[in-house]
Amino acid sequence: MQIKSEAPIGVFDSGYGGLTILREFLNLLPQYDYLYLGDNARAPYGTRSFEVVYEFTRQAVQTLFEQGCPLVILACNTASAKALRTIQQHDLPRFAPENRVLGVIRPTVEVINSISRTKHVGVLGTAGTISSQSYALEIKKLFPDITVTGEACPMWVPLVENNESHSPGADYFVKKHLDHILSFDPQIDTLILGCTHYPLLTDKIRRYLPEGITLFSQGRRVAESLKDYLSRHPEMESRLSKQGSVRFLTTESAAKFSEAGTLFLNHPVEAEQIAIR
Ligand code: DGL
Repeated sequence: MQIKSEAPIGVFDSGYGGLTILREFLNLLPQYDYLYLGDNARAPYGTRSFEVVYEFTRQAVQTLFEQGCPLVILACNTASAKALRTIQQHDLPRFAPENRVLGVIRPTVEVINSISRTKHVGVLGTAGTISSQSYALEIKKLFPDITVTGEACPMWVPLVENNESHSPGADYFVKKHLDHILSFDPQIDTLILGCTHYPLLTDKIRRYLPEGITLFSQGRRVAESLKDYLSRHPEMESRLSKQGSVRFLTTESAAKFSEAGTLFLNHPVEAEQIAIR
């Protein structure tokens, strides 16, 4: 039987993608308890409207709060792009003023200037993340000299969610989008994987990536940013329980999530199914 921890860090994604972030949390901050929620039944989010992504994300955050999480990380770029600000500014002050919700875009953007030499950066993301312009706007605010080009890769998440990341079909869609963005701006020297599912396609992406281009995967950076946040917010840090446990919730089949999660994290995953609304 799994012990329910009292105040875990909530980690939310539309599906499996957030496991790429959770893995780095477990490496860097293993002392905390974590509660992962994948809304696999309603993934992908990337092609959905602003209103729908906001509503689904709000429900997920509410569920994680009800499960005892004082702090929730939206380990999903689409949710961070489309729902984070409204949740922080509109929902939290009214419904959970003591709790916090953080995203993955800002921590990624903060380090990008130190990685790119040409100051031409590409962002690979879902249609929702790219059309929201969140990366371009955040980068402009911090580093106005950087030129940002976004590329929506709508087939990449379904490939991952359907366990087709290593199949020959994935090659076509990976190459198509890399060719497209690099022909649009040949000066790009840094490509941000602006979707937490995409690290699961890293082998394929590297196969088609020209030499000299840095592929930036955000997991480690988001974990470092969380560590920094907790050191600057002792009032939150002291609320978190620290038994080193991890629980997994999914809105789809628990068996399916457990199998995929175990393979991915290389760590036994026993998921529980949950309904959110
Ligand atoms: N993993 C998510 C992201 O980082 C979204 C995937 C999806 O559901 O479309 O954007």
